[in-house]
Amino acid sequence: MKKKIVVLTGAGVSAESGVSTFRDSDGLWEQHKVEDVASIEGWYRNPALVLDFYNARRAQLATVKPNAAHRAIAELENEYDVIVVTQNVDNLHERAGSTRIIHLHGELTKVRPENCCNDRDGFSEEAVFDIGHDSISLGDLAPNGAQLRPHIVWFGEAVPKIESAIDAVEAADILLIVGTSLQVYPAAGLYAYAKAGIPIYIIDPKDVSIRDGRIHHIKDVATKGMEEFKNLIKSKN
Ligand code: APR
Repeated sequence: MKKKIVVLTGAGVSAESGVSTFRDSDGLWEQHKVEDVASIEGWYRNPALVLDFYNARRAQLATVKPNAAHRAIAELENEYDVIVVTQNVDNLHERAGSTRIIHLHGELTKVRPENCCNDRDGFSEEAVFDIGHDSISLGDLAPNGAQLRPHIVWFGEAVPKIESAIDAVEAADILLIVGTSLQVYPAAGLYAYAKAGIPIYIIDPKDVSIRDGRIHHIKDVATKGMEEFKNLIKSKN
């Protein structure tokens, strides 16, 4: 029976592909107001500004590629039963070959009608469709006649996939956390669902906020950190 590894990733795993993180010195939230581009209030206040923000990120996604960290995570599937739980809305895990991915915060290449569902129940997958790296504008309507909006979980909105992420972490034999500042909940609280006694690894070049004796901090960038992680778990097997 293959050991179960859950890999929780954040913006840092895509940084070496040229995708900005959010809270680093050159991060997205240094250049844009979160409340303007990543909240439902911001959407109702100025939807054109929000569409422009995600159109620009979607266009940039077409110009970047998965890096060695994304590929190393995908290659873990050769020996382990792997689930990737990502906060990232990019499709770099898919493009690197990972086959089981839970997108907690939505997906940049997807859109849905703005009124398709209420925030409590989340949305029905049928209403969501893929537009690749294209742009959407005001007036672009869904089959139900509603304005299309990015399929992104904005601050204050429900995180419909959190239950399946918790189930995955609870079943894990090894938890690996890569490139997240662990400041945004409920994702930042997922590690607490890990079974007692399992090893938890964090790859981040900066100091990490959580204090937990089980945690082994690999203080490096994702590409190099994944090499160290693979050697560590090999030596333990
Ligand atoms: N390799 C590994 N980690 C890195 C690298 C790298 N090359 N570069 C930066 N990091 C680390 C940073 O030190 C930081 O701890 O990645 C982390 C990025 O943190 P954030 O910018 O806060 O991104 P993230 O944790 O993914 O944000 C969570 O917040 O804004 C919302 O919805 C958005 O999903 C996002 C959520």
